[in-house]
Amino acid sequence: MSGIEIVEGDITRLDVDAIVNAANESLLGGGGVDGAIHRAAGPELLAECRTLGGCPTGQARITNGYRLAARHVIHTVGPVWRGGTNGEPRLLADCYRNSLALAVVHGLGSIAFPAISTGIYGYPKEPAARIAVHEARMIRMPERIIFCCFDAATAGLYREVLGA
Ligand code: AR6
Repeated sequence: MSGIEIVEGDITRLDVDAIVNAANESLLGGGGVDGAIHRAAGPELLAECRTLGGCPTGQARITNGYRLAARHVIHTVGPVWRGGTNGEPRLLADCYRNSLALAVVHGLGSIAFPAISTGIYGYPKEPAARIAVHEARMIRMPERIIFCCFDAATAGLYREVLGA
């Protein structure tokens, strides 16, 4: 089983093999963690993203990390919350599963996730954390899976879900 860790803070500061970006289907940047990652990585990241032609919801794409401490960025597109009966749980699980699969294919040892979809896209934090932890527990690799929580409340929630 992978080692699961909870870190509180800014994901753009983490020195890991890959940080995951909660992007939109254009992959051309936005607000929230996406904006922070692009600002920290520099314009080379946007230039590489332009070559990818977007990404459907639930899928993932990998790029270099450029000026980030992280070697790579794995861009995934979470579902917009529309009440929960429009395939949101499956699509969110796909984000985690496809991001983890890309990390394994690229031989990465560590990956850090933000709480995908739980900001601008409105996914309720607790069910989202349960899906994130469930998917992380399903696989043996990568060696380290980090849940990067932007605030103490989110970190507390992940600790609770992990303990359960
Ligand atoms: N480090 C870690 N977590 C963060 C950071 C950070 N620097 N900044 C925000 N968060 P969001 P979404 C947390 O809105 O809901 C963009 O415009 C935040 O507290 O970034 O998937 C994209 O382009 C929240 O818990 O992503 C899309 O259009 C979590 O990251 C759209 O937003 C996700 O919040 C995606 O919305």
